[in-house]
Amino acid sequence: MKKLWGERFKSELHDLAKEFSYSLGVDFELLDAEVRVSIAHATMLGKSGIISHRDSRLLVRGLRQVLATLKKKVVCELIRDYEDIHTLIQVQLEKKIGRVGKKLHTARSRNDLVSTSTRIYVRERIQDLLILVNRLQTALVIQAERNQKVIIPGYTHLQRAQVVLLAHHLLAYVEMLDRDKSRLVDAKLRLNECPLGAAALAGSNLPVDRFYVAKLLGFRKPTANSLDSVSDRDFAIEVLSAIAILFTHLSRLSEDLILWSSQEFAFVKIADEFSTGSSLMPHKKNPDILELIRGKTGEAYGNLMSLLTTMKGLPLAYNRDMQEDKKPLFASCRLAQKALGVLELVIRTIEVEEANCRKASKDSFLFATDVLEYLVKRKVPFREAHQIVGSLVQRALDSHTSLSGLPFEVYQEYSRIFKRDVFECFEPELSVRLKSSAGSTRPDFVLRQVRRRKSQLKAEVRALKRSNRERGLV
Ligand code: ARG
Repeated sequence: MKKLWGERFKSELHDLAKEFSYSLGVDFELLDAEVRVSIAHATMLGKSGIISHRDSRLLVRGLRQVLATLKKKVVCELIRDYEDIHTLIQVQLEKKIGRVGKKLHTARSRNDLVSTSTRIYVRERIQDLLILVNRLQTALVIQAERNQKVIIPGYTHLQRAQVVLLAHHLLAYVEMLDRDKSRLVDAKLRLNECPLGAAALAGSNLPVDRFYVAKLLGFRKPTANSLDSVSDRDFAIEVLSAIAILFTHLSRLSEDLILWSSQEFAFVKIADEFSTGSSLMPHKKNPDILELIRGKTGEAYGNLMSLLTTMKGLPLAYNRDMQEDKKPLFASCRLAQKALGVLELVIRTIEVEEANCRKASKDSFLFATDVLEYLVKRKVPFREAHQIVGSLVQRALDSHTSLSGLPFEVYQEYSRIFKRDVFECFEPELSVRLKSSAGSTRPDFVLRQVRRRKSQLKAEVRALKRSNRERGLV
């Protein structure tokens, strides 16, 4: 058994305890980040004179070799033998370069190490997610532009309410996704402080240069309090929370598309590539991929709850409970990557059924509010106008006709203010064009927003790619 401790014990860890506590199966994913942290640490040890320059160089070279070797390994072969990723790298390093390898762990602990490499890992996943969210937004904007003339009923309480542009509906998700990105960026800003040098909990007696390590690893600065450094996981909770909120949006978008692709709505067709059939009913075409995005949202929420619950009630500083941060954290990052990737493709390939949208948006009750505002524009007090139109709706329902099907004379019975031009209110194109409030569904507003978003998204993706390249991420 290879571990980093043991001399003060009379017996080995029980096999069951080993199996229960070993974490390499999960934290192997930190391999890359761990080696980078160790290279920075070894460089700093040499620079600060804690070890010789020669030893420092040997460590760095050895770590590079270890990384290259371990990258080729199948992790399940190692799981039983090593407690965690830190142990694996340390033991492999000693195998490669001998006694000097034992100097790597000078002035550090696995407690500060794991927090540092997890932050680096998360920082990079955030960069990946930002690009993926950007791509999903771009797909939505492209559909909005492609279908800029299409009008659909907008809903509240899932009851037909007022007509809106389909593009406006799609752009609503672009807004939500923009906030999701800003939550991720914000989380990244806060987590971008380097815990290394906090050691086990109290700091080190050796003259480590924490500012130098922080700089080498691209952190803004070292963390300010060694106890906090090794016992905080709120950086992971924040990311899990941002991902959970992101999933709320992905799930709602999926739900809208599931509804829209049903025969009851029939506003869109989902491409065959992203639909499945039934093993029993030959005619079925089911939106399983979208349902799974909605379904897997449960996992994203669960991961957040899992870590919140793990952290609650832990005394300062490090506790082994905290090892349980990685499973939900990695799982949510992976899940978000996959969901964003597939949803982007679903959006790119949907086909809008314009004729059905047009038909649905002709329902005259959708324009009751336009009739109301027609009266208000002609100085009828709002509540009075509401009553008048409400009564007209009632009258239409009683006589089994539509709101536009009532004769002009009936309109006049309820208010002399009505002129024949009231029937223009029932034109979907006019209804959207008459909206004047900022952020409304007026076509020129929506088109301007499409253009603005399109160029913003393009500039953003360029900046993200550039910053990833600079950090060697792509
Ligand atoms: N693998 C542990 C974790 O991820 C780090 C090890 C620290 N363990 C310890 N007993 N101090 O949290």
